[in-house]
Amino acid sequence: MTEHDFIPKPYTIPNQSGKVAWESPSNIALVKYWGKKKNQIPENPSISFTLNSCKTITTVTFTPKEDTTDFSFEVYLDGLRKDDFKPKIQTFFERIESYLPFLRLFHFKIETQNTFPHSSGIASSASGMSALALCLMSIEKKMTNSDVIPSAVEESYFNKKASYLARLGSGSACRSIEGDVIVWGKTKSIVGSTDLYGVKYPYEVHDNYKQYQDTILLVDKGEKQVSSTVGHNLMHNHPFAQNRFNQAHDNMLKMKSILASGDLNAFIALIESEALTLHAMMMTSMPYFILMKPNTLEIINKIWAFRKKSGLHIGFTLDAGANVHVLYPKQESKNILEFIQNELVAYCKNGEYICDEIGFGANQLDF
Ligand code: DP6
Repeated sequence: MTEHDFIPKPYTIPNQSGKVAWESPSNIALVKYWGKKKNQIPENPSISFTLNSCKTITTVTFTPKEDTTDFSFEVYLDGLRKDDFKPKIQTFFERIESYLPFLRLFHFKIETQNTFPHSSGIASSASGMSALALCLMSIEKKMTNSDVIPSAVEESYFNKKASYLARLGSGSACRSIEGDVIVWGKTKSIVGSTDLYGVKYPYEVHDNYKQYQDTILLVDKGEKQVSSTVGHNLMHNHPFAQNRFNQAHDNMLKMKSILASGDLNAFIALIESEALTLHAMMMTSMPYFILMKPNTLEIINKIWAFRKKSGLHIGFTLDAGANVHVLYPKQESKNILEFIQNELVAYCKNGEYICDEIGFGANQLDF
């Protein structure tokens, strides 16, 4: 598919109001997306586990309007008006306008809430942008249903276009539409992979990864000093960028055999290397920056020592922040959770952490 496949054939836009709602999860990358080209095209492929509990719930109410010069929308988080969210959504609407011809014809009331605390440092852009993209797709579906474009409403087209639109809001959001393992970015070893949207991982996944656990340790809950967008841009002219992008392709190939064989030691080695490489890229950017905090390193060292002593399959990954995602198989969760509670929670801000696990994607909500 190409970009053009997401531009719908002209359809009659009904002059009626309505309301749609979706809940969409966050996701955690195993091979990381870091670096992008124009139009939100990733510099390298990534693969993620969709999460289950960390999600955004978004309701969009749409009402026809007369004046079509500008977009018109208002945004609420937990019932409170959030004008500071508007620039990001304005940019999003500008990027997706050619794919959703009704955008200027309606006023949108966007009401959103997260199941995790907004200040937790957990990026809400993946769950938030995917939930919004799905709501807009549902609106398009309502409109085209009352006209005739059957192919435009098929589920696979719906999910692909939702992921495509979500990507234009935030790259990693395109991996949140479905579950449980999602690939984004064209790479030789994964058939069907594309830079345009996330696809379900098409190969066998060993039972060891079923119900894989992700306990998120909230080390630092403040606003990030460097946004992901700025960080991605610092990969342009980065001295190690090309090697890193090549490495991501190699790691996707390695991940394929790791997911098939269920080799958890190899899995841990790969995800930890990916996490530290991501942060190494930040530290070697110009200007350079560090998002890990002292407690991030304390936790990593504790995990390594416990793994050595216990032989359990506990590993970690990091996003663009100080929080630590502790990943482990469900079968070992009793002992590992005990270790987390006894030894790691002390390094979390106010002792806060979130227990999540691999999930299966977004759901539409009824009223
Ligand atoms: C480190 O998707 O937040 O989490 O496309 O600029 O919105 P934008 O960036 P974003 O970047 C996420 C980067 C990451 C790695 C990953 O999720 O693959």
